[in-house]
Amino acid sequence: MKRIGFLTSGGDCQSLNATMRGVAKTLYQIYSDIEIYGILEGYKGLIYGNYKLLKPKDFSGILTEGGTIIGTSRQPFKHMREPDENGLDKVSAMKSNYKAWKLDCLVILGGNGTHKTANLLREEGCNVVTLPKTIDNDIWGTDITFGFQSAVDIATNAIDCIHTTAASHGRVFIVEVMGHKVGWLTLHAGIAGGADIILLPEIPYDIKSVVKALEKRTKEGKRFSILAVAEGAISKEDAALSKKELKAKRKETPYPSISYKLGQEIQERTGQEVRITVPGHTQRGGEPCPYDRVISSRLGAAAARLIEKEQYGYMVGFRDGEIVPVPLEDVAGKLKMVDPDSTIIKEAKGLGICFGD
Ligand code: F6P
Repeated sequence: MKRIGFLTSGGDCQSLNATMRGVAKTLYQIYSDIEIYGILEGYKGLIYGNYKLLKPKDFSGILTEGGTIIGTSRQPFKHMREPDENGLDKVSAMKSNYKAWKLDCLVILGGNGTHKTANLLREEGCNVVTLPKTIDNDIWGTDITFGFQSAVDIATNAIDCIHTTAASHGRVFIVEVMGHKVGWLTLHAGIAGGADIILLPEIPYDIKSVVKALEKRTKEGKRFSILAVAEGAISKEDAALSKKELKAKRKETPYPSISYKLGQEIQERTGQEVRITVPGHTQRGGEPCPYDRVISSRLGAAAARLIEKEQYGYMVGFRDGEIVPVPLEDVAGKLKMVDPDSTIIKEAKGLGICFGD
């Protein structure tokens, strides 16, 4: 009898269910005698012993269903070694539930923080296989994460919708795109949506360059401009501050988000009317796009094969079109950022897109 635990952790995305389905369907083909346990609400379920036995029918009809059938939660890695409010040692609790449930392997689907805890569990002797989930596409060791492409589609659609209204009114529009500390989602949606200016955390912007690009468009007779701005975008002057100084500055002049600061500056410096759109969590919602369904099914199938080979301690990654196992210790604690000197940035600049640098 094989006993496998599934766990989804951190922010959700559209393709979690599709990925679990991929793992489960392949496992059911490999083993006639297998039990799959859904550990509820991420690491919280592993700590506090909440799970449910999943049956083959639970994986039917979920290829197109966003969210996660077993729930998720954020359990920050930095607090994992701290006891909870009742003095419970979380790491010991996770290990003891893993043992009590007689699991052969934990299949963990998550982003960066999730991978740090997965690696910790590996170091503590648990068998772990992970899958790279996030709309941010910032997991080291894989070219693509599932959820990313679905989010690109939604963010692009937001920019597409803005285009017509921006053109009618002749305004400057800022579309703020998710992505946490990285700019992959903004870069791809910005190019796909034909944004005139793209601002990323990896390329701190100079407001003067942004204004210059806007004024150039006005001189050319363009009645509107669209900026795709990453939620983590930062000005050159703010990027030069220490973490402490930046925190103090943001406390002094608080804005709901970077777009509002930028919007005010643009309006003051150009006299143009600015509007801000924040698609927010819609970017994580709805059904996975077909590309994600394929990636999720392939990564899921590969995870099942790692379990079959008892090859534990790996994330299933996707590099140069191939599925590859990536050692967890290599993945944990690293961030995959946009390289400002990469060809995609050069190509985008060649198209006339301003990055504010
Ligand atoms: O990591 C995915 C993500 O959607 C980021 O893009 C965003 O910064 C963050 O999660 C939002 O987190 P929460 O859902 O906890 O507000």
